[in-house]
Order: sequence, then C-alpha cells, then structure tokens
Amino acid sequence: MTDKYAVVGNPVAHSISPQIHAEFARQTDAPISYVPILAPLDGFAAAVSKFRDEGGKGMNVTLPFKEEAFQISTTRSIRANSARAVNTLSFGPDAIAGDNTDGIGLVTDLKLNLQFEIRGRRVLLMGAGGASHGVLLPLLIEEPVALTIVNRTLVKALQLRDELQGEREVAVFAGLGKRATDMEVVEYPDLKGRCFDLVINATSSGLKDEMPPLPRGIFAAGALAYDMVYGKHTPFMKFAAEHGAKISDGIGMLVEQAAESFLIWRGVRPVTAPVIAMLKGVNSES
Ligand code: ATR
Repeated sequence: MTDKYAVVGNPVAHSISPQIHAEFARQTDAPISYVPILAPLDGFAAAVSKFRDEGGKGMNVTLPFKEEAFQISTTRSIRANSARAVNTLSFGPDAIAGDNTDGIGLVTDLKLNLQFEIRGRRVLLMGAGGASHGVLLPLLIEEPVALTIVNRTLVKALQLRDELQGEREVAVFAGLGKRATDMEVVEYPDLKGRCFDLVINATSSGLKDEMPPLPRGIFAAGALAYDMVYGKHTPFMKFAAEHGAKISDGIGMLVEQAAESFLIWRGVRPVTAPVIAMLKGVNSES
C-alpha cells in the first residue's frame, strides 16, 4: 500500500519538495506518494483535515502556513517550540505531531556538506522573521562562541531573542548544548569594524535582489557567507564573493530539512549528496 504525503503552501507550484522526496523514495524503495497541495490563505486547517481524512500520513508545510501548522499540532518537539513554527506534520490516530526541521537542515548542510564547524566560531545571523526564528536554537546548540542577530527593525530582533530564552533553557536542560554562546542583538551600523566567521542571510532581501546594508570587512579570513535562498546568485552572495568569502546558497539546507522530515516519517535517513548535486545542476542560474 502507498503511504501518502504532501507539501502544503500558497503558492506551492514552485516547490521542489515533491522532486526531492521522489528521489528519497526511489533511493530507499519506499512505497510513498508525495504531492503539492495549494491551500487557500484562509483554508489551511481544512486542507490538512481533508488530506488526513483521506489517509495522509504526513505533510510538509511551507509559506505562509508554518505558524498555523504550529497552532494545529497537538504535540510539538523542542525544535518546533523554539521556532514557534512547524514544517513537518505527522498524523497519528489521535494526534498531530509538529516538528521543525529547517534549523537542523541548515546545521547539517553547514557541517556535513560544507565542512564548516560552527563550534567556537563567530556567527552573524541577518533577519528576524520566520526564517531566522527557525534556525536560531539549532545554531545555538552547536555552541558558536558568539551569535549576533542583526535586523533593520531592531525591535523585531529583540523580540526574537526574548522569545528564545525559555526554549534555550529547555534545550540546555534536555542536554542539547550549553549556555556557551554570547548572544547579542545589534543594528547594521553597529557592525562597522567587526568581522565574523559565518554570515547567514535569513532575510528575504535576495528574493527582491536587494542587499542588506553590511559594511566592508564583515568577513573574517576564511569566512563562509550562506544565503538561505536557493537557485539564485543573490546580491549578498556577490558581495561576499567580492570580499573574499566562500559562498553557498540554501539548496543544501532545503534537501537536508527534507531528509529530516523523511526520517521522521519513514525511520530512514536518505543519502542527500546525490540529490543536492542533481538540484545544483538544475537550479543553477549563475
Ligand atoms: P518571514 O517571516 O517570512 O521570514 P518577514 O517577517 O517579512 O518574513 O521577514 C523578512 C526579514 O527580512 C525581516 O527580518 C526583514 O527585515 P525587517 O524586519 O527590518 O523588515 C528582512 N529584510 C527584508 N528585506 C531586507 C533588506 N533589503 N535588507 C535587510 N533586511 C531585509
């Protein structure tokens, strides 16, 4: 019997998750189907119920429904609680389990695929929207020496830090990392004269071909510049390359978060490297 999965979003037609999961299924001989579902902006919960009633086993959730997915989850992982957002739903007879694999997807891409060790390094995270929220705790768990959050709108970054405090305590209590990281919130002008080993762009600037107002000299020697956007050579990536940093887009993160979802559902972690290589070939614009 085929187990049914889906990705739900609005819009969803652009999603390459069906392609990624089809590769995972082929690789692991999993008898599954995985389809895109377009939910009306006011019809997310109804779309989930319908899919579940039809025998669906689990769903990935993409924009703009990750917060709503958090709300309808009846049990939530630490990762989901810290992100206040859910991208992976698993349906049991009486429960909807919510998890968030975005942050672990980023961390795995950095550590395994890009061979970048986060522990002890200075990390700059740009942005204070959903994308930053999702990756903050998994980054902290890796124990960078300092994690600096920068946002145009300072109050949003302060809010993000405050919301995270409680979850960070829970994570430390659960044995996930120590309180080793110096966490601070700054504005872009404060970055003048400072440098970082890892600069992550979690803003939506790349989607609009905009560049966050970073000063020159922001990249330490050997720094990595990571843009969570994929399939695009963003102004941030161009700037980073011009200033001597190594660069990466977010395609590896996308595949790694999908692999974590697959693991939650199927109990098997697919091999991601060939899938990333395939998608890099297909999505390369540069
Ligand atoms: P989401 O929650 O989906 O991530 P969002 O709340 O609109 O989306 O967040 C987008 C993030 O990108 C915000 O941190 C935003 O900064 P502001 O909070 O100051 O608006 C950031 N952002 C978007 N365009 C940017 C740009 N050109 N330069 C710097 N930051 C930008």
